[in-house]
Amino acid sequence: MSATIIVDALWGDSGKGKVCAQQSIRHDAELAVRAGVGTNAGASVTTDDGRLIKARQLPTGWLNPGTRVAVGSGVLVDPEVFAGELDRFDLADRVLVDRRCAVITPEHIAAERADAHLMATVGSTGTGNGPARADFVLRRAGQAGDHPELAPYAGDVAVEVNRVAASDRLVIIEGSQGTLLSLAFSADYPCATSDNCTSAAAMDDVGLNWRLATDVIMVVKAMPSRVGEGPLPYEISAAEAQRRGIAEHGVVTGRPRRKADRLDLELLAYATMLNGPTKIALTFIDHFDPSMRGARDAAAITPEVRQLIGRVEAVTGAPVTLLDTGHRLGDVIELAA
Ligand code: IMP
Ligand code: MG
Repeated sequence: MSATIIVDALWGDSGKGKVCAQQSIRHDAELAVRAGVGTNAGASVTTDDGRLIKARQLPTGWLNPGTRVAVGSGVLVDPEVFAGELDRFDLADRVLVDRRCAVITPEHIAAERADAHLMATVGSTGTGNGPARADFVLRRAGQAGDHPELAPYAGDVAVEVNRVAASDRLVIIEGSQGTLLSLAFSADYPCATSDNCTSAAAMDDVGLNWRLATDVIMVVKAMPSRVGEGPLPYEISAAEAQRRGIAEHGVVTGRPRRKADRLDLELLAYATMLNGPTKIALTFIDHFDPSMRGARDAAAITPEVRQLIGRVEAVTGAPVTLLDTGHRLGDVIELAA
């Protein structure tokens, strides 16, 4: 029996997609399920042969050929994005979307982009997720099972998730966004997304019975970033990020990501309290210590990074079991729990 939930501790963009792909391959997961808000998310991962994968709707677990992918009923689905990824990644024979998922329409996207509050004050991604969720709550949204393009792939994802989690195979649940962007937990409302992004929210998004959850991997970005509005402790200027060669751009919007110089340990403690991690994936280590870029061997861990691992473990009470050192899927170091 096993179900691993992957969530982000801070403001997202920490490499959840890469961790999901890595874990799916490592453990030959039977099923990878997207949780989280919807297509406002953007995951990117580069395979070891140099293929850049960008995904907004489907979990990256499909990079393991034996893993089926699904979208939980709490996740908003954009039929165009769904169809695009189905085609690009060739997943028609191993994808399932919950028939109850609310559908994002072009009207939702236009409404969000025309909304000055969402675009300017919140810094929304302009992907229609907020308006679609509002329609879902008002019980007038369309659902995947009734949508001509989605219906052929629609089913009951909650049944699949709980069936696999209760078997001897693994289900991986990939959250989106980040804990501190959670609608009801953010200290910076309205600079938040349209739903919660915690481990409990991820379980809820896919309908996992909590008794079947075995691991929560909390992804911690060693050098945090934030896109959109709201405070970012230890923020450095865009010029400084450029100078250090750690500038980043959003997968969905292409916007430059605001970058921080270091982790805020109080916020990390708060995210730990909400998520209850059993393991930590510490990502973007190459931004923290460029000398470790692309390292794949524990012997390459520098004293500075050892110290960081110690601090993160002290705050979270969970072992760092994965270090991410670069863009490529294989640029990781696994550590014993
Ligand atoms: P919305 O969910 O598109 O309305 O965006 C609300 C806020 O959450 C904005 O600050 C976005 O930049 C941020 N946001 C939404 N999705 C993501 C994500 O996947 N990664 C990082 N930030 C996100
Ligand atoms: Mg939800």
